[in-house]
Amino acid sequence: MSYDWNLLKRQMSRKSLRYPLTLLLAGLWACPSRAAEPVESRRGAAYFSGFGCIQCHRVGPTGGAYGPDLTYIGFRKTPQWLDLWLKNPHAWKNNTVMPNFNLNNKVRAALVAYLGSLKGSAYRDTPPWDDASFGSDPVKRGQEIFTRVGCVGCHGRGGKGGYPNNNVAGGKIPALLLVADGYSKEELESRIRNGSNPAKDDPNGPEPMIVMPAWGETLKDDEIGALADYLISIKPKGASSEGW
Ligand code: HEC
Ligand code: HEC
Repeated sequence: MSYDWNLLKRQMSRKSLRYPLTLLLAGLWACPSRAAEPVESRRGAAYFSGFGCIQCHRVGPTGGAYGPDLTYIGFRKTPQWLDLWLKNPHAWKNNTVMPNFNLNNKVRAALVAYLGSLKGSAYRDTPPWDDASFGSDPVKRGQEIFTRVGCVGCHGRGGKGGYPNNNVAGGKIPALLLVADGYSKEELESRIRNGSNPAKDDPNGPEPMIVMPAWGETLKDDEIGALADYLISIKPKGASSEGW
């Protein structure tokens, strides 16, 4: 098949045709990638059940509580890190109990597309921490938010730490047990709201893959306030970052 370029040019020069033709070309260019995404992510959701990830991880209303809740995983972790983690969890965190599933590239790409799409929408209408049982206790409500949005996935259960990062001093994401010593409640709130990128340990090395997300993009002021109340409450009795 050959195109009559002169005819096409003549048509293009007619104002009425130029616009729809541009739209058609733009549509052809954008469609395949746009359409591929939900399909890939739906396949990932099927693998998530098929491989039993759901036995240990919750997404929205369903799943286990043995591993971190993944309802916000696409907000807190990048696709690059998710792929690295799924390739071999033990290579990133040697003492993790998450099994290595030896997933092939195709399965991993689908799981990463699915996980990357999970940005908290399942909790937006009915946040589990707005259950009446937490209403009167901001610390308990903060603890529930800490668990459900996945602060635990980086700072550990109860903020105890122990989770790796690359090219940062000490090689770890900070524990949060003693933040009450260094921050006022307002300072903690703005720390949580704004997030930050950790400083590189070796200035010539790669960027640290794990950053503190800007939670203000997804959580409300009262939720950030409850998180600060919770963090202030976890300081062990008698513990101090000063002296002996
Ligand atoms: C036996 C329970 C178990 C199974 C099954 C499991 N995981 Fe995990 N997963 C964990 C635990 C526990 C962690 C937290 C890491 C740690 O504390 O060692 C984790 C961490 C993760 C994280 C990082 C969470 C975060 O907040 O950063 C992702 C993503 C993840 N798992 C995805 C999966 C996927 C996908 C599957 C299925 C292919 C799966 N997991 C199967 C237990 C499990
Ligand atoms: C994706 C990983 C990740 C998640 C999830 C995460 N953080 Fe962080 N957080 C970090 C990193 C990395 C730092 C260190 C940042 C730096 O050095 O600039 C940090 C720092 C902090 C600090 C300051 C600690 C200090 O010693 O100064 C606080 C407070 C904090 N996070 C609270 C939270 C809360 C509350 C949540 C949940 C709403 C949360 N983080 C979720 C990675 C994470």
